[in-house]
Amino acid sequence: MEELKDKVILITGGTAGIGLACTQAYVAAGACVVVIGLDNDSVAETMNIIGDDHLGICCDVTRDADVRESIERTITRFGRLDAIHNNAGIGSPSKPLHTTTDEEWDFLMSVNIKSILLTARHGVPHLKASKGSILHTSSLVGEIGQENHAAYSATKGAVNALTKSMALDYALDGIRVNAVLPAAVMTPMLHTWAHEQPDAEKVFDFLKDIHVLGYCPAGDVIADACVFLLSDKARFITGVNLPVSGGAELGYRRNF
Ligand SMILES: NC(=O)c1ccc[n+]([C@@H]2O[C@H](COP(=O)([O-])OP(=O)(O)OC[C@H]3O[C@@H](n4cnc5c(N)ncnc54)[C@H](O)[C@@H]3O)[C@@H](O)[C@H]2O)c1
Repeated sequence: MEELKDKVILITGGTAGIGLACTQAYVAAGACVVVIGLDNDSVAETMNIIGDDHLGICCDVTRDADVRESIERTITRFGRLDAIHNNAGIGSPSKPLHTTTDEEWDFLMSVNIKSILLTARHGVPHLKASKGSILHTSSLVGEIGQENHAAYSATKGAVNALTKSMALDYALDGIRVNAVLPAAVMTPMLHTWAHEQPDAEKVFDFLKDIHVLGYCPAGDVIADACVFLLSDKARFITGVNLPVSGGAELGYRRNF
């Protein structure tokens, strides 16, 4: 079924992990996809997978000029923009707040939050024209917290607040704003995080156990929810931070 037929969707960090799964799902659902990646090689690899009906752009989402140019190239190529998926993010460092350096803090805030400001600054005028949609890849830890990950959790709490405030700001323009909140998903970022823990081997059992549904998924489960939220089937849904988490947030667990 082509739920996203002819929609032009720009996704940041669309060349790896959850973003790559979303990119492929959007293509399968009939969208024209603009894939933003941080380096030329990953963009070229992704374009090899999805083909030249789509557009790949090397862009650092923390840089205003890069984001502006990416949106301009999108409009030049496709003439419209129906959705922005703010997916790019970083997970490091994994440590308590008092040991987090200024550089680590500023970099996290820049990639995980300021990028949303920049895509809104340059993208919202086009989304007003299309009555389009904004989607964030946030995280469950923005709601429930995570040990040794305070700065990262803070960025995702901020993203969750942005979902609601942006939904209010743009509702009368017909723009919907939602977020997906994964718990853990097997991606390059998760492997980096696992190797920042004292015992990386134990981490993978833990990642299975935290999901009530009994496994740690790949990006496809997140991508399916994203296709729905960007489709017209979700036309009356806005301001929602949707856990796509296998029930990881549910309480009173029994693992005996
Ligand atoms: N993997 C998980 O367990 C998990 C859980 C919850 C939320 N998330 C969130 O999902 C999103 C994707 O994570 P992932 O696990 O797929 O990560 P990943 O590291 O596998 O992929 C992240 C992508 O973002 C890109 N990126 C990073 N910095 C960028 C920048 N400055 N400009 C442009 N692109 C940039 C990377 O190149 C890469 O393509 C992130 O926002 C992350 O916080 C991941």
